[in-house]
Amino acid sequence: MKIFGLSLLAASAILLGPMSRPGAQGPPARPTAEQNFLWYCIQCHGPRGDGKGVNNTAKLPVSPRNLTDGRDMAQFSDEDMTRTINRGGGASDLSPIMPPWGNTLSAEDIRDLVAHVRKLCQCQFDPKAKERFLREQGKMPAQSQALDPMKETSR
Ligand code: HEC
Repeated sequence: MKIFGLSLLAASAILLGPMSRPGAQGPPARPTAEQNFLWYCIQCHGPRGDGKGVNNTAKLPVSPRNLTDGRDMAQFSDEDMTRTINRGGGASDLSPIMPPWGNTLSAEDIRDLVAHVRKLCQCQFDPKAKERFLREQGKMPAQSQALDPMKETSR
C-alpha cells in the first residue's frame, strides 16, 4: 500500500511537472515549450503533434491539425499561429474547437510554443502556400480579415 501511495505521489509529481515542482528551491522555472505542449496541447494534437491526441475521435467535427505536416503548416505565419494560440481557432477563421490560450499562457509561453510548432512541422511560412490553401477553401487572402471569426470551416 505504501509503495502504491509512493508511486501515486511520483505519478502526480510527473503529471504536475509543468505547473509545480514540489521540493524545488526558489520560484519554479518557467515551463519549456515542450512541457507546455505536453500539458495543454497533447489531448488534441497528440504527443508528437501529429493530431492524433485522445480527443481526435469521429465525434469531433474538425480534426486537430497535424502539426507535423510541413506542407500544410507552411500556410501559417508566426503571426497566424500566435493569434490562433492566443485567441483560438475562431479568431483565425478556423474551427473554435481549437481553444484560446491567452488567459492561460503568457505571451512568452505562446511565442515559445510557436517556435516549438515550427520544429514539429520543420517548416517556414510560405505566403504562396497560404494563398493556395485560401483559394482551395474559396477565400482570398485579402478577405480573411473580414470573415466572421466564429464561422465554422467546412473542413
Ligand atoms: C480541444 C482540442 C485542441 C487543443 C487542446 C489544442 N488544439 Fe490546436 N487545434 C485544434 C483544432 C481542431 C485545430 C484545427 C482548426 C481548423 O483547422 O479549423 C487546431 C489547430 C492548431 C494550429 C494550426 C492553426 C494555426 O492558425 O496556426 C496550431 C498551430 C495549434 N492548433 C496549436 C495548438 C497549441 C500550441 C495548443 C496547446 C497550447 C493547442 N493547439 C491545443 C484543436 C486543439
